[in-house]
Amino acid sequence: MYPERKVSAFRNPYVMGLTAVASIGGLLFGYDTGVISGALLYIKDDFPAVKHSHFLQETIVSMAGAGAIVGAAVGGWINDAFGRKKATIIADVIFTLGAIVMAAAPDPYVLILGRVLVGLGVGIASVTAPVYIAELSPSEIRGALVSTNVLMITGGQFLSYLTNLAFTQVPGTWRWMLGASGVPAVVQFFLMLLLPESPRWLFMKNRNEEAVAVLANIYDIARLEDEVALLTTQSENDCHKRKDIRYRDVFKSKEIRLAFLAGGGLQAFQQFTGINTVMYYSPTIVQMAGFHSNELAILLSLIVAGLNATGTVLGIYLIDHAGRRKLALFSLGGVIASLIILALSFFNQSSGSGSGLYGWLAVLGLALYIAFFSPGMGPVPWTVNSEVYPEEYRGICGGMSATVNWVSNLIVAQSFLSVADAVGTGPTFLIIAFIAVLAFVFVLVYVPETKGLTFDEVELLWKERAWGINPDAQSLLEN
Ligand code: BGC
Repeated sequence: MYPERKVSAFRNPYVMGLTAVASIGGLLFGYDTGVISGALLYIKDDFPAVKHSHFLQETIVSMAGAGAIVGAAVGGWINDAFGRKKATIIADVIFTLGAIVMAAAPDPYVLILGRVLVGLGVGIASVTAPVYIAELSPSEIRGALVSTNVLMITGGQFLSYLTNLAFTQVPGTWRWMLGASGVPAVVQFFLMLLLPESPRWLFMKNRNEEAVAVLANIYDIARLEDEVALLTTQSENDCHKRKDIRYRDVFKSKEIRLAFLAGGGLQAFQQFTGINTVMYYSPTIVQMAGFHSNELAILLSLIVAGLNATGTVLGIYLIDHAGRRKLALFSLGGVIASLIILALSFFNQSSGSGSGLYGWLAVLGLALYIAFFSPGMGPVPWTVNSEVYPEEYRGICGGMSATVNWVSNLIVAQSFLSVADAVGTGPTFLIIAFIAVLAFVFVLVYVPETKGLTFDEVELLWKERAWGINPDAQSLLEN
């Protein structure tokens, strides 16, 4: 075997190029989830029906999330059946159509249709980009490359907040704000036509020569031999399974159940520890803390988005150095402390002893929350899900876990304000802190370290977790 695995991303422009193009998917995800809050203000001006109906406003906002739930679920299957490249191209076409429909919408109902289409595209992209990137990455830098897609999500959100500010005085603003998102999709569509299919998917489909040709662009000759040898042994071991992939059997394997528990669980905890309450509601939270100026609230939310993107860069560095587990645990530790600070500052305000001081304490809590969340619980769930499933189920399981992410996102986004109304803002943050404690224990118990492991080593790891020290004999017995 090749003696050491030490590819550096910066010395591999080919891999960097593939990652850059694939992670335009993350940009679409981030821009689209960020832009709507600002666009809605202007949509209300153009369509009085929207202005007078909370229901229409909520539908315009949430239909993209609903589309993404379906897109992520179907996207997993598309990935397995047609490959990562076609999945990306399909997502781009649907997304672009959605962007055009939104920009040209003559009434709110057509606009909602556009939002659904864009959501479908984002959902498919949210499964595909991490898997495509993981499958072409050398294992020692896989975490950093998959997390680049997360940087594009957080960068896209930041960009959308800037756009919201920039377009404020232009007539027809919202059409530009929403339509502009089609541009990166068109760019990705054309670039993707030039890029190769994932080598691992090609190998799984017995298109070995094409797979080796792609790998030859990534590795030098000694490492290439090693990688091909790994792929060949794996596909020989697994050929009995691959002939007959049946989705209804996915969860019959104990290994996959464990992997999905770790992956899907991380996705749920990413959302239930409150990231999007902060991303979607930071202006509101700032106002709840006693700062009543709109401008200040919007400015602070821009700072939050900027911090979030900056923290992701740190995550890109740490994920392959510290590892997924340590990074997630460190991140959750800080998130718990920040949520307690947030909760305390709101408790003090509502008990009447509140002053400007506690308002600032809340802002400090928010900033700390983002600083701790962004390098860890932001990128770790997406990375882990791109690497913990066996080849033949990577699409479908990745799709299911992304669906868990989008469903949880919707639940949190829909309930935060009502829960805060019902029990108070301080207790709401305490509830989220309690969930973060559960997440910490969950990571300790169920999430193994996958830093630097090859996909085959990851499969072995699950076998050992499922069957103990002699995993092959035991799992043979089960079969
Ligand atoms: C999450 C998104 C979130 C974003 C914010 C991503 O990892 O999946 O739901 O909006 O991070 O930073």
